[in-house]
Amino acid sequence: MSRKITIIGAGSVGATIAYTLSMDSLASEIVLIDINKQKVAGEVLDIAQGTCFRDPISIVAGEYEDAKDSDIVVITSGIARKPGQTRIELTQTNVNIMKGIAPEIVKVAPKALYVIVSNPVDIMTYVFTKISGIPENQVIGSGTLLDTARLRTGLSQHYEVAQKNIHAYVFGEHGDTSFIPWSCADIGGAHFDDYTKIMKAYGKKAEPVDQEGMLEYVQKSGGKIIANKGATFYAIAVSVVKLCAMLLSSSDSIATVSTMMNGEYGVEDVCLSMLTLVGPNGVQGKVPVELSDEEMEKMHASANALKEVISGIEI
Ligand code: LAC
Repeated sequence: MSRKITIIGAGSVGATIAYTLSMDSLASEIVLIDINKQKVAGEVLDIAQGTCFRDPISIVAGEYEDAKDSDIVVITSGIARKPGQTRIELTQTNVNIMKGIAPEIVKVAPKALYVIVSNPVDIMTYVFTKISGIPENQVIGSGTLLDTARLRTGLSQHYEVAQKNIHAYVFGEHGDTSFIPWSCADIGGAHFDDYTKIMKAYGKKAEPVDQEGMLEYVQKSGGKIIANKGATFYAIAVSVVKLCAMLLSSSDSIATVSTMMNGEYGVEDVCLSMLTLVGPNGVQGKVPVELSDEEMEKMHASANALKEVISGIEI
């Protein structure tokens, strides 16, 4: 089936998303758009020349008009975090960039599903939803999909079990106020304490996970990668491509992505991540699993922190 995905922003994240998509069979057409024409031309040539061993695929460096009839538009534009910077410090600059992009792209691709990746992603998803005129069920921020992947990586290493057997999530802001709702986490259907006991009975060395340490590992990973190599792009790219696969699938999937809250957990008029049903028609709804009182407080704290940022920006 012919599927078209446009990516706006050919920095490390946008280009790596394009490359990852080019290795997959999800899209038959990829359009990469950037204000830096030389950079985007170089990225496209490099990616296209790596596709010789796959079925034909069209990859072009384009203008906004080339995004016409896209099934999905992924927005990655914006300045990136420098070592030591928080995502929130990028806010007004990236909001201004988003204000330039949104009217141009929605003119040509009003029916597309929009995946927002630019940071701070929850704020950018909110701003795009507010200024674009695109119905909110068509707007999905990558949110804590990456944080959830990081959590599963950490837990899988701790428990020495496949990531696919771990059902654990990161909720809230993709940033410093995120939290892990341990009350709805399990390994193969067993709660973590029970799983530890079961493994001990098999003679395996199984220690209970350090929950605070695990959250710190998740929250600090992006900053640590930036400190070590200047930018993060592989894991976010794979997460975004996975999200595109969910949006192009015939069935819905449940994922922690950032979308407009409409009273779930008593939170509204802010975008953040919770379990969300997404599929070919975009956001189908939320899955408001029960949270403990303490987790509910963390959800409200994360929402309030994001609202505070929103109140300080010019949209
Ligand atoms: C990170 C960027 C994508 O956490 O925010 O790696």
